Amino acid sequence: AGEKAELIAHIRTLMAQQNAVLVAHYYTDGDLQALAEDSGGRVADSLEMARFGTETTAETLIVCGVRFMGETAKILNPEKRVLMPDLAATCSLDEGCPADAFSAFCDAHPDRKVVVYANTSAAVKARSDWVVTSSIALPVVEHLHTQGEKILWAPDKHLGRYVQRVTGADVLLWDGACVVHEEFKGFALERVRRLHPKAAVLVHPESPDEVVDQADVIGSTTQLIRAVVDRPEQEFIVATDAGIFWKMQQLAPGKKLIPAPTAGEGATCESCAHCPWMAMNALQNLAQVLERGDQEIHIPEDIRLRAVTPIQRMLDFAR
Ligand code: 13P
Ligand code: SF4
Repeated sequence: AGEKAELIAHIRTLMAQQNAVLVAHYYTDGDLQALAEDSGGRVADSLEMARFGTETTAETLIVCGVRFMGETAKILNPEKRVLMPDLAATCSLDEGCPADAFSAFCDAHPDRKVVVYANTSAAVKARSDWVVTSSIALPVVEHLHTQGEKILWAPDKHLGRYVQRVTGADVLLWDGACVVHEEFKGFALERVRRLHPKAAVLVHPESPDEVVDQADVIGSTTQLIRAVVDRPEQEFIVATDAGIFWKMQQLAPGKKLIPAPTAGEGATCESCAHCPWMAMNALQNLAQVLERGDQEIHIPEDIRLRAVTPIQRMLDFAR
């Protein structure tokens, strides 16, 4: 514990010297979330992370999360230095949607508005009309559908299908998935629900249909956390990355949180889902990146200029 306190103190000193601020996603380690919060930074979902970067006056933004979050911060704030503990922290959705193949897919369907999930590379965002996060996907697609637009959606097929079902829009889907949420199983969730009949079921929409269909609340990480705080139930079955329990427990210490099962056999913590790339963020490599200044995000300016428009469109719409 003493060593950890020293490391945190060291990080704080380096951050102050470099006018740096920390923004962390809810799936990262609790130590990083705590540090972000007590050092003037923020813990947030993808949309709020993007917004926070534009609001802070710090010269250096340290993004604890996965690569696309760092890239979005840089696209919106080219004058700031954007660092990450480890630039190799990717996302299966991003990996499963290479820019060349995606661009060809768009070219083949020129009659559709291109809506891409934030979990994509800068080059894929540069080819889009709209960028959305899970917290705003529904109202954006609803808005486009009302205007008579047909949608090309990438890369998460589960979120895309959910949005299609709720809005009734004509949505053509790219075939991508999140390796973490795809593991939640409908039949196993039914069993856990029978064991906890009073629990409310909270589901991130990157989960498969059979899981989404059993949800009381479907939403982004922030929206799911808010549900634990605001709803009257005392028990919650939670189908998203286990990193989220840190904040849920902090804000609602009396409530019981049950991880949704990823396999047939009940809800032990062995079956907790956790993103391997989010797990690449730690106090040690955070200290290292502040010492060395490596792991900095750079985006070619031509791509940045094309990617900033659909991201800004999202931020303006969300206002
Ligand atoms: P949120 O925008 O809901 O925080 O989700 C980001 C993400 O990567 C979920 O897997
Ligand atoms: Fe990507 Fe899934 Fe990890 Fe989120 S949890 S960063 S969607 S792989």
